[in-house]
Amino acid sequence: MLIRNKRRLIAVSCLALLVIAFNSAPYAQKQSSMKSPLDLDTLHAKILKYKTWMLVNSEPVRMDSLVAAMCAPVRSRPATPHENKYIRVYVNDIGQEAMLKAKNPKFPVGTIVIKEKLPDKQSQTPEFFTIMLKREAGYDTGTGDWQYLIMGAARAKLEKPADLESCQSCHSAWAVKSDFVSRTYLSPQQNQNLR
Ligand code: HEC
Repeated sequence: MLIRNKRRLIAVSCLALLVIAFNSAPYAQKQSSMKSPLDLDTLHAKILKYKTWMLVNSEPVRMDSLVAAMCAPVRSRPATPHENKYIRVYVNDIGQEAMLKAKNPKFPVGTIVIKEKLPDKQSQTPEFFTIMLKREAGYDTGTGDWQYLIMGAARAKLEKPADLESCQSCHSAWAVKSDFVSRTYLSPQQNQNLR
């Protein structure tokens, strides 16, 4: 009686294992056919929530006029670079500590920094966005594995900048000091807190 029960138990366990194996096979297939979590659509949905991230500069900071002209896609460059633009910068949770605590940060993979370009200091309607996303090691070693992206005022989609090299080369000025992230907008107090 006992032995029969034991056999039955083994048979039932085997059946259960088989059922699990069969069910997980299509699941594994489904997983691998899913889009990578870093495809632009997925990333776009994530980035649209940037207002819930940490605002790095509590007061909009005036943008350097050269940057105002260049930190933008070629086609939307203003005829005259002498314009007064302001910026607000947000960082997601993953990058917060590097942004605000470390004197010489190495931003963790998954960090996203987004910069709003504002027509004036009071504006709540950014006219353009530039974005840096820290990718996996080996993505682009010479430029710190950062992916550079842009988004128009309508926020309809993320785009790869046409002049990617200019993003990369200008930001390489901060390669050693702060992992290609400028942080020129940190307040004196925030700068003092860096360790
Ligand atoms: C001419 C130099 C220059 C070029 C070209 C440039 N940037 Fe920047 N970028 C800056 C400066 C300076 C800042 C600091 C904030 C400011 O003054 O706008 C900055 C800030 C940023 C930030 C906020 C994070 C940080 O580094 O502090 C992002 C994101 C960014 N740029 C993305 C881009 C992208 C995307 C491109 C290409 C489309 C680009 N930048 C091209 C100079 C440049």
